[in-house]
Amino acid sequence: MTFEERLRACAAAVEAHLDARLASFPDTGLASAMRYAVTGGGKRLRGFLVLESAALHGISERDAIGAAAAIEAIHAYSLVHDDLPCMDDDDLRRGKPTVHKAWDEATAVLAGDGLQSFAFELIADGSLPAERRLELSRSLAVASGASGMAYGQALDIAAETAGEPLSLDEITTLQAGKTGALIEWSATAGARMAGADIGPLQGYARALGLAFQIADDILDVEGDEAKTGKRLKKDADAGKATFVSHLGLDGARARARELVDEAIDAVSLYSAQAVYLKEAARFVVSRET
Ligand code: IPE
Ligand code: IPE
Ligand code: MG
Ligand code: MG
Ligand code: MG
Repeated sequence: MTFEERLRACAAAVEAHLDARLASFPDTGLASAMRYAVTGGGKRLRGFLVLESAALHGISERDAIGAAAAIEAIHAYSLVHDDLPCMDDDDLRRGKPTVHKAWDEATAVLAGDGLQSFAFELIADGSLPAERRLELSRSLAVASGASGMAYGQALDIAAETAGEPLSLDEITTLQAGKTGALIEWSATAGARMAGADIGPLQGYARALGLAFQIADDILDVEGDEAKTGKRLKKDADAGKATFVSHLGLDGARARARELVDEAIDAVSLYSAQAVYLKEAARFVVSRET
């Protein structure tokens, strides 16, 4: 199986699990908005990282799928809120109108809330031993909360209005939170499920997460909206601090390439078993979507 086929297979498994579990909600506008936001799009990179890190530790897809679906629910919630007028004010996501455009702002806020809670329900209901599910929940709460994704988002918004541009270290901290924390959780989830050392995957994920956000910032400058399915050329207009604003396009590309090598080195001890994780590192910087 090629990397692309493996990514598609993971995406299909995550989609099917989300689809089935969403059916338990009362049939309201809120449930429809949640379904709209979390199904039918996205690369499912985070879900792939969960399933792949699980496979590396001998954990079956059946046992890992709840966590893979959960991280995609948290990610979708973060995107719904990120697109709100009070945040990035975007009207297009995954090639469709954003939730607050298709419904309204209140529904978008609530759909994000609902997706966040849904994620923890998906983990709690899984088939892993109870103490492993507890550890997955605890670490996901940390990764998505006020020292993780929400922290990075807060720094990102604050930087828009700050007088001085952020330093490279500050940008690294910001991006490690806003994008890195969920990617790190995804890539270490399999080790947590097995009660194994998360160290090597953490090193991999830190480099991968940063490379991923650098690629996102580059795509914002030179990507194709028809491919990304979201509005581009917005960061500079908003005065956003990004790796591109700091290093320039060539500098950002060079830094992303270094990080890909770092990520690949970090999982070298897994040898051939980590082939898809290594391919994923190359994919995040070469992607067009
Ligand atoms: C976009 O994430 C938001 C960032 C964290 C940069 P993705 O590029 O993974 O979005 P989808 O899930 O594929 O739509
Ligand atoms: C979004 O970062 C990160 C999260 C939603 C946590 P961006 O604002 O750069 O993502 P896009 O470019 O809108 O996808
Ligand atoms: Mg944003
Ligand atoms: Mg945004
Ligand atoms: Mg962006």
